Amino acid sequence: MRDGSRQSPDKSVSYIGIAILYNACSEFLRSSQMTDKYAVIGYPIAHSKSPQIHKMFRDQTGEDISYEAILAPLDGFAATVERLRKEAYKGCNVTVPFKFEAFLLASNRSDRASTAKAVNTLKFSNSELLGDNTDGVGLVNDLKNNLNYEFNEKRILLVGAGGAAWGVLLPLLMEKPQQLVISNRTIAKAEEAARILCSNFGCHISDSTEFVAKSFSDLSGDKFNLVINATSSGLSDEMPDIPETIFASGALAYDMMYGRETLFMKFARKHGAAIVTDGLGMLVEQAAESFFIWRGVRPETAPVIAALRAQQ
Ligand code: ATR
Repeated sequence: MRDGSRQSPDKSVSYIGIAILYNACSEFLRSSQMTDKYAVIGYPIAHSKSPQIHKMFRDQTGEDISYEAILAPLDGFAATVERLRKEAYKGCNVTVPFKFEAFLLASNRSDRASTAKAVNTLKFSNSELLGDNTDGVGLVNDLKNNLNYEFNEKRILLVGAGGAAWGVLLPLLMEKPQQLVISNRTIAKAEEAARILCSNFGCHISDSTEFVAKSFSDLSGDKFNLVINATSSGLSDEMPDIPETIFASGALAYDMMYGRETLFMKFARKHGAAIVTDGLGMLVEQAAESFFIWRGVRPETAPVIAALRAQQ
């Protein structure tokens, strides 16, 4: 009887060599083919925490992704996106100052991106460029899930009517608070926001919600359960000129900026807000929503927020 498994010593050495080579090649191909590439594009971008956040999501979920920060020249956003598509990236986040350009570039847009006229998440899907805006849902999820905030019967003041405010308007209205007041230093911009939202979506989104625009001075006499600072005043260490009396008992004051105690946060502490927070939770939650759009997997945000807080 001949044993078919027995080979001459020389032949088994070469078979082992081929097997090792085969395994090494397939591992290389697997890693180079299966790691899905993502990035955040901005100008500037070095400060971005998104790579760190998405790497924590990757480690936590086991999703095989890479995520890097890419600095695009001010006139080079579309070319950068095109390059990423050619290099088989699966999607990207978009930050300042390219969110409007990303909105224009997207071939399909979610309602929340259309309302915001801003896209912070692009998903590359065959020839499609799907544009979404996860900023608003990031804010709402931070409020609901991390701060245990209940929107029902609440009066909310949104201060600011620039890009950041537009990004969160629709998701806030979808929570159907009792009242949403948008107020801005330049009142015409707040009035325009109220007019456009109402004409685009009608009252069916917010049957139970009063949605109005008011000037800062018209806020005197009003009290709010939640006051959100969506202005960029914190960047220049300024404070919107809102009345001191706006915080209802137990009010939550939320600054969409993160990384430092803004004048708005100090103002809120001094004038009766029970809880004062920055926008770090929103940052992590909007990233989680992007991750979900790309991967269909929802990462745990609490440990990521805690890790970032520990670095502050
Ligand atoms: P972003 O995309 O960060 O929202 P933006 O679109 O330039 O930036 O909008 C900036 C917002 O912050 C605006 O609502 C602006 O108010 P005006 O429309 O009156 O300019 C608001 N803002 C900036 N600095 C402010 C300050 N010191 N006080 C009050 N509002 C301020």
